[in-house]
Amino acid sequence: METGLSPELLLKAAAVHGTPLYAYDQHSIESQYAKLQTAFSAFQPSIFYACKALSNINILRILNRLGAGIDCVSINEVRLAQMAGVSSQQIIFTPNSVAMDEYHEAVALGVNINIDNLSILQEFGSHYGSRYPVLVRINPHILAGGNLKISTGHEDSKFGISVTQADKILQIVEETGVVVKGLHIHTGSEIKDIDVYIKGLELILSTAQQFDGLEIIDLGGGFKVPYVPGEQGTDLHTLGERMADVFEQHKQSTGNSYRIWFEPGKFLVSECGYLLVKANVIKKGPSRMFVGVDSGFNHLIRPMFYDAYHHMDNLSHPDAPPTVYNVVGNICETDTFAWDRQLPEVQPGDILSFRNAGAYGFEMSSRFNSRARPAEVLISHGEITLIRKRETFEDILAGQLY
Ligand code: LLP
Repeated sequence: METGLSPELLLKAAAVHGTPLYAYDQHSIESQYAKLQTAFSAFQPSIFYACKALSNINILRILNRLGAGIDCVSINEVRLAQMAGVSSQQIIFTPNSVAMDEYHEAVALGVNINIDNLSILQEFGSHYGSRYPVLVRINPHILAGGNLKISTGHEDSKFGISVTQADKILQIVEETGVVVKGLHIHTGSEIKDIDVYIKGLELILSTAQQFDGLEIIDLGGGFKVPYVPGEQGTDLHTLGERMADVFEQHKQSTGNSYRIWFEPGKFLVSECGYLLVKANVIKKGPSRMFVGVDSGFNHLIRPMFYDAYHHMDNLSHPDAPPTVYNVVGNICETDTFAWDRQLPEVQPGDILSFRNAGAYGFEMSSRFNSRARPAEVLISHGEITLIRKRETFEDILAGQLY
């Protein structure tokens, strides 16, 4: 786990902007992006940042300046990417279960489109024929990922068109003239096992043989980052080497090569983010000590939704004696961030931080209990910049008719 932002800077950010606060380290994003480029340099893929992980427009700008495109799941994400200055060719629209209207909008915006079901492919093809080539998302029937909720490539998953239905895709191509310019696969999130990627890659390459004129293979995202101290993420260096071998063999045996795309989210922005909270209450029960903080699953839902571990630091008293707590939020429901967590003894008013909060942190936040969402700051070269204002009561009321 990298050291990242210093406690002093984080404390300063909390002092200036209050808590709860999301703080993002720009350097971390840049260094994660560079790691991907190095690991995959043999085949120089295009990287499309999966902005569902963290869609603040400033983050999109940073990644686009580094050379990344943006992978979007909704038209509003597409609009954000375009507002961030990302060109249409650098945007992929990979929705699921959306109506045809959204595809029409995506066509009007000129972005790459990834279709993940047969009925939409049929409708799209009947409407656009060969005028708007698309990618098709294949479900590879591979069960993998950190948690069933984030596994998307298994047979029972709602995502993609089953690899066993490739003949149906070809039938639609034949009937409507729709051009399939690429195949897409995304097996799940937090995949450490390199064999899973290789299996998916081999499967998609063999499926690709059935399609004429295919240009792109989009391998999705899902690279694992360490959350628990001592844990290892995906070994990207080995993955890059093994993928390069597979591409080379494929080229030699079939004569075919493709442009390769990836869509990582977590890998690029998980480690950059810290959720800073304040300890409001220390409660000593008969069997447990609780720290109650000024946040809850309305701000960081991953521990409750995926049983995810987020490492914590007591920034105010890092050298206090170790004490074991259940760290809980202030929501009117059980919202335990951490069970039996050893932390330097916490005093009311201490600033605590959750690491790895950049990906799917703010992005999955809500206004549950009519509590406002946190502010966000970007930290670069020691400078703290507010990139999203803390919500107010007026924001909560906005749009309500009374
Ligand atoms: N591409 C597609 C089509 C996806 O569905 C996803 C994630 C990604 C790329 C990026 O995956 P990543 O590199 O971030 O693993 N909220 C969950 C993660 C859900 C991921 C959904 N799809 C979490 O907090 O763990």
